[in-house]
Amino acid sequence: KLMALEARPLLWLALWTLAVPARTAPGEEHCTVERRADLSYAEFVQRYAFSRPVILQGLTDNSRFRDLCTRQRLLASFGDSVVRLSTANTYSYQKVDLPFEKYVEQMLHPQDPISMGNDTLYFFGDNNFTEWASLFRHYSPPPFSLLGTTPAYSFGIAGAGSGVPFHWHGPGFSEVIYGARSRWFLYPPEKTPEFHPNKTTLAWLRDTYPALTPSARPLECTIQAGEVLYFPDRWWHATLNLDTSVFISTFLG
Ligand SMILES: *[C@@H]1O[C@H](CO)[C@@H](O)[C@H](O)[C@H]1NC(C)=O
Ligand SMILES: *[C@@H]1O[C@H](CO)[C@@H](O)[C@H](O)[C@H]1NC(C)=O
Ligand SMILES: *[C@@H]1O[C@H](CO)[C@@H](O)[C@H](O)[C@H]1NC(C)=O
Repeated sequence: KLMALEARPLLWLALWTLAVPARTAPGEEHCTVERRADLSYAEFVQRYAFSRPVILQGLTDNSRFRDLCTRQRLLASFGDSVVRLSTANTYSYQKVDLPFEKYVEQMLHPQDPISMGNDTLYFFGDNNFTEWASLFRHYSPPPFSLLGTTPAYSFGIAGAGSGVPFHWHGPGFSEVIYGARSRWFLYPPEKTPEFHPNKTTLAWLRDTYPALTPSARPLECTIQAGEVLYFPDRWWHATLNLDTSVFISTFLG
């Protein structure tokens, strides 16, 4: 009981800290990732695909898909389906199966700032696209592909303050479908960030980020619903959902 009472002010403090920059200047002065509207495929390949992240605007119109992703509609269609949850840490993902409705009712709350990533379960990836086909057939994936790769999708929903700590894999795209803002931190493959693999991104932002020297800071940006972020092969990245968010990633493997 006491723990819960103590944790609450901390939680509000953390969420307030996240929200304030957004209120004063939409978080945009910190965006160090290029944003491009109407980028051609040729320029994407030449300038970004193998060298740096980019945020693409106006790439696809997923408004229909977005309309189907409200909490109410998702619950009505998929409340009974069992989803596979993963822990929010870097290397060892423990998995737990739970009906989607239970996840939404019991676990879709703001991230507790004092809990560890390896103790936090959230829904991202491990999707059953057969069972959820009536939803996913409305998704328009990013139209840019890379030679020799096949896209694989990961869909998820998580509360404010949730996210994945630093990790890397092959190239891909990520977009926020519903709920808006998602803050991204990225480092090139040769610049391994300072982080604890079992700490949440929220804890990293609070404990590590403020002390970084300018040259040790990541590239970062807050992406909005409708924008698509591209990350190249092996780039380190960590994410932080500023609102309860529905997101989908396309991994090119
Ligand atoms: C989570 O990680 C921390 C630090 O790495 C460790 O002390 C703790 O036992 C882990 N918790 C679980 C449930 O494995
Ligand atoms: C996906 O869902 C379908 C329909 O509910 C089920 O038959 C199938 O076993 C599921 N696949 C996996 C990999 O869980
Ligand atoms: C992180 O947590 C996992 C699982 O809870 C544990 O096995 C591992 O030892 C922890 N890693 C570190 C670096 O503490």
